[in-house]
Amino acid sequence: VIARGGVRDLAGRHVVVSAGGTREYLDPVRFLGNRSSGLQGYAIARAAASRGAEVTLVGANVSLPDPAGVKVLSVSTTSELRDAMISASAGADAIVMAAAPADFRPLHLFEAKIKKSSDGSAPVIDLMQNPDILLELSSNRTKDGQVIVGFAAETGDAHFSVLDYARKKLDRKGVDLLVVNDVSDGKVFGKADNEAVVLGRDGSSVDVPRASKGEVAHVVCDEIARLLPLSE
Ligand code: CTP
Ligand code: CA
Repeated sequence: VIARGGVRDLAGRHVVVSAGGTREYLDPVRFLGNRSSGLQGYAIARAAASRGAEVTLVGANVSLPDPAGVKVLSVSTTSELRDAMISASAGADAIVMAAAPADFRPLHLFEAKIKKSSDGSAPVIDLMQNPDILLELSSNRTKDGQVIVGFAAETGDAHFSVLDYARKKLDRKGVDLLVVNDVSDGKVFGKADNEAVVLGRDGSSVDVPRASKGEVAHVVCDEIARLLPLSE
């Protein structure tokens, strides 16, 4: 993470960050998951801590060292992530949902390992939707002026651009800031470098071209610091 000349603009603030990707179990040994490494969320936690914040980091299946001076909680499923985020973020100044929660989970959890059948057939797995954690957090803010940040990995199509989809998502999620990654080439996951745009509900848009995840993290912190109300 790039040092920013000892700026302590988040001193006295509590920032809660989620990172990683959730897993939804099918049976005791198998799950549905995604490719999120947790690098971006961990970089934000480190950046916020370096700027003086008290940071709680909720990691879902992340294998990265705990950032110094950060309280780290570990979860696995979207439901566990939801519960951890709701309790950790009560009264927080800012919440950053950098995690990639699985959108669906199996309708049934098999208690024993699913076995292959000899006739070559495969099981059909019914899925149900998971709760939308970000929407729940933004609809139930627990502090005046609480700044809520979402992430979106989007691809454009023939009808709408990445930024068109992102603006719609920012509105739908009720967030103050949305960090948008263009994943059309599949180049973001697990990489140190990232290209991002940080959109604000106030119409702001900050480009972070070919920046490291540490630089993206500091731009997110800049935007959080800009939006936070003056502390009492
Ligand atoms: N998110 C969440 N809970 C979910 C799914 C997503 O809190 N169940 C959060 C993510 O952490 C991210 C933001 O919502 O900050 C946007 O995630 P994304 O997957 O882009 O949004 P979805 O609403 O799941 O839309 P899509 O159908 O495009 O996946
Ligand atoms: Ca999703």
